[in-house]
Amino acid sequence: MLTLRLMKDDDISLVAAWLNKEHVKKWYEIPHLNVTIDDWLYEINHRYDEFQWLTHLIVMWGDTPIGLCQYYNCQDSGEEDFGTLPLAGSYGIDYLIGEEDYLGKGLGKALISLLVDKIFSFPDAQRVTADIDKANQASEKSLLACGFVLIDGEDSRFVKTKNSFQ
Ligand SMILES: CC(C)(COP(=O)(O)OP(=O)(O)OC[C@H]1O[C@@H](n2cnc3c(N)ncnc32)[C@H](O)[C@@H]1OP(=O)(O)O)[C@@H](O)C(=O)NCCC(=O)NCCS
Repeated sequence: MLTLRLMKDDDISLVAAWLNKEHVKKWYEIPHLNVTIDDWLYEINHRYDEFQWLTHLIVMWGDTPIGLCQYYNCQDSGEEDFGTLPLAGSYGIDYLIGEEDYLGKGLGKALISLLVDKIFSFPDAQRVTADIDKANQASEKSLLACGFVLIDGEDSRFVKTKNSFQ
């Protein structure tokens, strides 16, 4: 069974290994925005201070950690690249399956679904958004299968609203 649990300090070396795997790195390194894997690790290592607005969760398949996801309240993030998305009530997400053996088995869809359910249990949550690379077909198809819609083709921004049925 797939579950999500809070990331602990002793998960970080595994998470760092996942982020540096080619199938993850190719999407998490974003050269045109100067985003490196070290930037993602910096956020993780500063999650109790500068990046306390981020919540990191480990994706578990039974007792096996297989991936990472995170969510954040867009208003708390101080980030400014949400385009026309209303910030109040919006939560951003990121996700990855680090263990190759667990790719392509429906677990990406399942983890996004669990993450969205968790966020929609928060009273203030109205919508969940994900900003992906246009070429990332596995990510795009996972979002679409979970009821997200594309709202900004330029940035490849997807949104799922709380009262959309899926
Ligand atoms: C994105 C990711 C979480 C998807 O998880 P997954 O378990 O591999 O995907 P699923 O098996 O749940 O499949 C989801 C959909 O993507 C499709 N898909 C899966 N792998 C694919 C691939 N390599 N190419 C194209 N489509 C793919 C599936 O057919 C399915 O589509 P469908 O619902 O229309 O049939 C996973 O591929 C991953 O972690 N990738 C590396 C990190 C990453 O890209 N994170 C997202 C950054 S925005």
